[in-house]
Order: sequence, then C-alpha cells, then structure tokens
Amino acid sequence: MEVLMFVGVDYYPEHWSLERWETDARLMKEAGFNVVRILEFAWAKMEPQEGSFDFGWADMALGVLAQNGISAIIGTPTCSMPAWAKQKYPETLAMDKNGRRIEWGVRANYCSSSGTYRLLSSRITEAMAQHFKDTANVIGWQTHNEFDAHQCYCESCRSEFHAWLRKKYSTLDELNRAWGTHFWCHCISDWSQIPLPVDFKTHNPGLCLDWKRFVSHLDVRFQAEQIEIIRRACPNHFVTHNCMGLFKELNYFDLAQDLDFVSWDNYPIDGVAPGTHPVWSSMAADLMRGLKNKNFWIMEQSAGPHGWGTYGRNLRPGELRKIAYHQLAHGADGMIWFRWRSCTAGREQYWHGLLGHDGKPLRRYQEAAKTASEFHRISSKLKGTVTLSSVAIIYDYESLWAAQIQPGYACNDYVSKIARYYAALKRAGIDVDMIPPSADKLEKYKVILAPGLYVMPDALARKLDGYVRNGGVLICDGRTGVKDSSSLCHERTLPGLLSDALGISIEEYEAVSDKFSYPVSGTESLPGNYAAISYCDWVKPVTAEKLASYQDWHLQDYAAATRNRCGKGWGFYLGCETREDSYYDAFIACVLNTAGLKALDLPSGVEVSIRASESCRLMFLINHSEETLKIAVPVGARELVSGLIPKGQIELSRYEVAVLEL
Ligand code: GAL
Ligand code: ZN
Repeated sequence: MEVLMFVGVDYYPEHWSLERWETDARLMKEAGFNVVRILEFAWAKMEPQEGSFDFGWADMALGVLAQNGISAIIGTPTCSMPAWAKQKYPETLAMDKNGRRIEWGVRANYCSSSGTYRLLSSRITEAMAQHFKDTANVIGWQTHNEFDAHQCYCESCRSEFHAWLRKKYSTLDELNRAWGTHFWCHCISDWSQIPLPVDFKTHNPGLCLDWKRFVSHLDVRFQAEQIEIIRRACPNHFVTHNCMGLFKELNYFDLAQDLDFVSWDNYPIDGVAPGTHPVWSSMAADLMRGLKNKNFWIMEQSAGPHGWGTYGRNLRPGELRKIAYHQLAHGADGMIWFRWRSCTAGREQYWHGLLGHDGKPLRRYQEAAKTASEFHRISSKLKGTVTLSSVAIIYDYESLWAAQIQPGYACNDYVSKIARYYAALKRAGIDVDMIPPSADKLEKYKVILAPGLYVMPDALARKLDGYVRNGGVLICDGRTGVKDSSSLCHERTLPGLLSDALGISIEEYEAVSDKFSYPVSGTESLPGNYAAISYCDWVKPVTAEKLASYQDWHLQDYAAATRNRCGKGWGFYLGCETREDSYYDAFIACVLNTAGLKALDLPSGVEVSIRASESCRLMFLINHSEETLKIAVPVGARELVSGLIPKGQIELSRYEVAVLEL
C-alpha cells in the first residue's frame, strides 16, 4: 500500500537496552507512526575500530521496526567523530583562530576540508550504503546532521581557500581588482600571501565575503561526496538533509541542490517564554520550501521542553499538535518529532522527547498520536498540494553576509529586516515564497520584495528593472544595490541601475542611533504617523510620488517612502525603518492594493495558508494564541479534521486548527 504521509520520530535505539526495542516499536505503531530517523550519531558503534564495521545491532533494531510497519531514514554519522579518529588523525579536528586544535568531546568539531576526515566520511558512508541498500524498510538518507559551516583555520583550510580563490579569479590582478587591495596597500603578489580573515570588522570586506562563500562551499562539497556514494549504491532511496531554518552561515540554496527534498528542524519554543513569535517558524518554513521550490519534511520537531544545561517552556496542551499543523500548512509532507524518548545520558538530557526519561506514553505522546491519526485521515487530500503564492521575497545569502561583515547602519540585520515585511504579509493573510536572487520566471509573482538587497550584480538589477517594466511590483529599501558581488561599492548614485524602476535618487543617507527617531507622516495612500529608526535615506523623488515624508527640518525636501510607475509596473522604496509594525501593515496594504491583491481580515493570532492541487484547495487556519478566536470562512467549505461544515464562521479555541476544503 502506498504511504501517503510519513509521520514518526527520531529514534536512538543505541541509547536503550535491547529488551526495550519491542516496546518502543509497538508504542510507535500504536501512535500511527510509520517512519523513524536513525543512526545519525552512531559512528563509533557501527565502526568501533577503523575499518571494522558492526551493523548487527542496527539490523536488529531495523528488524524490530520493520515488524511494526515502520520505515527508516538513515543518517550518516559524520557530525560526531569517534575517539579513535581524532587520536589516530589529530588533523581531522578543526583549528581555532589561535592555531589550537579544538578539544575532542563535543560534536561538529571536525575540519571540513581535511582530506583524512573526508576519507573517513566516505568510508563509513560507503559501508552503510552497501550494508543498508537492500534493507526493505530503509527508504532514504539524511546526510550528516545540521551542517553549520563552522570555520576552521588550519593549514588545509588555508591552502584549500587559496586554491578556491585561484579557481575563481584565475589571476592575482583580478583578485586584487575585485577586493580593492590598493586600500591600505594590501596588494597580493603571491597566492600564499592571502590571509584568512579572523575578524570581520577589520579585514577587507571582499576577502571576508569570499571566505564566507568558501566555508559554505566546504559543507556543500562534503555533502556532495556522501551523496555521490549513496546514490550509486541506493538509487531508489531519497536523500535529504536536516537544515536549520533561518540559520545564517550556510548558503542553503547551494546545499539543497543535491538533495531530493529539503528537511528542517523546527524548534519554535526554544527555551523561551510564551509569545515567541510563530512568524519566525513560518518564515523559516517558507525559506525551506523555497530552497528547491518544493514541499519539505520536518526532520526534527519540538516534542517538549528544550535545553542542554537548562530547559525552557513546556508545550501547552494542544500546542504540539498546533506546531505540527503549522508546518503542514506551509508545505511539510513528512513530520518527525525529536526525539522519541528523553535520553538519560549525555549533554541533551533536557532536550525532551515525546516520552520522558521514564519511557511512559503520556500526554505529549498521546497528543502526537492524535495528530498522526488526523494526518493520516487527511493525507489523501493533502497529496500533491503545494503553496501557490503571488508574492515572493528575494532571500540572498550574499547580502546577508555582506551585511554581517559591514552592516552600514548599526542594527542592520538582514533576516530581521525581511521579517518585518514578512510578518505584515502574514497578518494580511498572504502566502509568501522565498526565492533566490537567481530565480527566473519572476513574472509569476505580482509582488516581489527585495529588502536589504545589498549585493547587486548588474545582471540582477537589470532583471528586476525588467520585472517592473513588464508589470511587476517591486519593493526595495535601505542599502539596496550598494555593492557589487565582490563587495566593492558601485560607482553610481543610489539606487544605481534601479533608479528608473524606483524613480528616485539617493545622494545622501545617515544612520539613526537608537537614542533618536525621526517623525514620519504618511499620505492618504500610507496613512499614519510613525517614528523612523535605524537608518534614514534622504530620498529624492524623481518620477516617484511621496508616500510618506520626514518631519525633521533637515529632511523636509526628502521622502521617507515612495511609489513609482515605471512601464507597466511599480517600484516602491522605503527610506527608513519605523518603530511601529502598523507602518508595515499600512505599507503592505498599499502594495497589495497597487498590485490588485486582496488582504484578509484576520484576528490577531490567527494564521492562514493555502495548499492547493489541481483537484483540491485547502485552507489552513492556525490559532497561535491562547484566546478563542472567531474567523469568517467561505460558506459551504468542509472542515476536514472534524468533518463539519461551518456556517460562514469558525471558532477556534486556543491552539486549535482547521483545514477547510474550499
Ligand atoms: C538539533 C540537532 C539534534 C539535537 C537537537 C537538540 O539541532 O539536530 O541532533 O542535538 O538539536 O539539541
Ligand atoms: Zn581546517
């Protein structure tokens, strides 16, 4: 029988006695679970000594799972290296900035460029792939665990960096030009002279940006080596990786290219008090979906209080289920809770699972079981449904890194900047795609937001200009197009090649220190009074209309926000951030209006998302709040979980969800 929906847990049989395995598998089956992720930290148990393998215990565990109808995703175990590896090959350990090897005994402590480590990684991957390729209940692979692009300053990384630069630039003249090494007389006359940036605040910005690209590339290459082995041995298995949502150090678009689909680890209540805004989880999910423009899996989902040293907030009744539906709404096609049972040993004793240390199937287990059975019930409707957005946000790791290296104004955080627009779009009930700057077919979106698009190669600017001329609505803001891809400032008045599309000219700008704010007043199209914070562009409208003005005497001639007609489309520009979220709501309302899109009127705390296929359109309503909320819904639509047809309005109690078939 075809499995329509995979639901399960991250399982570590090696943490428990053999006698317990039957009970675990039976409880999983009773909960409606049909998949586990397994083995991803079990290297030393599978290869107790270099080159000698023991998979017997894993076969037994997989056998017990198989008897209970449970499939497995095998994790390659390379995130945590065995003691024998570091002892025999100390060069496999990463080196810190001061030239000291990192002490073994934590995880993610390896050097990703080390030839030895890569060989060890390939060998265990090959052995596992060969061993599990015919195991009937193995369905796929997870590479490694949470690649994190950690930096290593060893000699191998240094020479690999030099080789990577040589390939990229071919000549030193080109490298010197790209980085602008005439400044401070940092001209490079031999490849071996190139330093590793140990400090992003004082080194050349072009060097720093290339270093970040290089470190990200090392993980992509490390993963590719494993994937090549797995695909050769196991052509029928899928390969995925558990990404970390909005994690900043790795270009996930690159990492995702070699995967069949993306998975990610969702911990929306990470030790925080009530009120951690679920919008971060929404945005992360949309980014994860955007990596391959494809639905994703949750490989690790909050199952209880989190923590290594101390634990945080527990999931309230209904919240565990709500968090799962929330991800379903954004495009999850598989749901795996981390972890099955809270471990009694090691650093993560307080990162709680569905079961506690006592192993009893209590409240959180029951709630996951209920959720699983509901998911199976609606899975035939879900099958093949995807998010169809008319609005996209360009998500650019290069701009993110450039802003880390040289923010310009002090509080310039790329992801937080995007989040303010994103949150306003979600409050308006709009589904959003996250797309890379390389995306084509931009015309499928009515609106594209490009907040903080700091790094702007000419080709990208021309593409965005064309998008506007052909009828698109583009939103830009501070630091748009300041730099080229090697982090040199363009020699153009801002916003450079987007000047026509945006109809403005920015000759001067300033930062606004956090002690100050500038009063801003909107026009009829963007009504309200606000406080400009963070940065202030002195925006001169050329062909654009003013949507908002600064009130300070020195800014009277300038605009705080503009809208410009260009060709068949529109270009918007925001010249400042504001303290008030209501500014972003008013701005998004104006944008949607201009684009002919309709906002929904939603009570605060409710999120709406649509998943659709050719035959079916599902509207997910998620009550993130602890209030009971009433929401107007289309008449006649059936709610799939309850089977009821609400009469034009639905009432959702705290953490309640609804899935309406429209
Ligand atoms: C995740 C990681 C898991 C586990 C969990 C709790 O980020 O993938 O292996 O460590 O955090 O710390
Ligand atoms: Zn290294």
